[in-house]
Amino acid sequence: MNVDGKHYRTIWVKENDLGIIQIIDQRHLPHQFVIEDLASVDDVARAIKDMHVRGAGLIGATAGFGMYLAALNAPADSFLPALASAGEQLKATRPTAVNLAWAVDRQLGVLSAVDGEKQAKVTVALETAQAIADEDAEFCRRIGEHGVALIEEISQAKGGDVVNILTHCNAGWLAFVDYGSATAPIYAAHEKGVKVHIWVDETRPRNQGARLTAWELGQHGVPHTVIVDNVGGHLMQHGLVDMVITGTDRTTYTGDVGNKIGTYLKALAAHDNGIPFYTALPSSTFDWEMRDGVKEVPIEQRDGEEVRTIQGLHDGEIKQVLLTPNDSPAANFAFDVTPARLVTGLITERGICEASEEGVLGLYPEKR
Ligand code: MRU
Repeated sequence: MNVDGKHYRTIWVKENDLGIIQIIDQRHLPHQFVIEDLASVDDVARAIKDMHVRGAGLIGATAGFGMYLAALNAPADSFLPALASAGEQLKATRPTAVNLAWAVDRQLGVLSAVDGEKQAKVTVALETAQAIADEDAEFCRRIGEHGVALIEEISQAKGGDVVNILTHCNAGWLAFVDYGSATAPIYAAHEKGVKVHIWVDETRPRNQGARLTAWELGQHGVPHTVIVDNVGGHLMQHGLVDMVITGTDRTTYTGDVGNKIGTYLKALAAHDNGIPFYTALPSSTFDWEMRDGVKEVPIEQRDGEEVRTIQGLHDGEIKQVLLTPNDSPAANFAFDVTPARLVTGLITERGICEASEEGVLGLYPEKR
């Protein structure tokens, strides 16, 4: 997608230097656009853990490139054990987004089947990382193609009036390699001339909505309004939301949606007000083993300092300020799970399905 009119992905191999992976360091957005070089699996692990990159798809793609850097630096005589240990290191960085383990395991599976010199294995690791990234972008583009029909339907029912869509956190292109999941149908609608307006939940504590979704939508000229996290229910009661579209970090094959903390409350409010609640995801975000999301999705708990403080721009500098009494402890549950019964449908690269085992396996019969 575009930044000041120039097309970027969120991760790429540095031009003329196959030893460096470049990312947009999202900690500085929206105030500064910073590109960071990653040269080792340690760099990649730090970038994921400290959220220079974040969002399910991008965490997966970054892990894929992390395994490539591990391959590049692995000793030829203990190549696979070194890769297995890099995989463990990467998997330990963040627990909720299933794309992380999926990308690591995909690299390990492919690499364990390659014979020959180390250079041949490194080449395959790079091809696999690139394939993971390209597939992520392509699947998000297709999510847009399928999801736009839902927005067009509402637009027609409203006689071409503005369709108001609420989204939570950032499931935009910054959370993937390109396009985004929740935002892909929005960008597709905007490009087709369908009038949309997006309610952007700020998404405390790290404000991915206020900082990242608002910035992306602004870069693409999509009309939007940032709201604090508790406004959604009020807007829904007053007919100001036509649909909700969220992303997800891990969705069970039974349709339970793990996503950024606060998603469950939006789904409850949408259900109470008869508003369609959709979740958009590429197949890499399905957990094909997990049945009961509420019980089983691992919920990351992050440092309470993220709750006690807030980051913003002051006098041209990015600063962190304290919000709470100095000695108040804080809890920081980063994700919650919305049960399938509250989800109207799942928008995937293969089409839209019911959030249920039957619906999901109907689209992915090879997983039966
Ligand atoms: O903690 P983050 O920023 O990595 O959280 C992930 C998210 O941005 C959201 O939960 C998003 O809706 C799903 S990721 C596509």
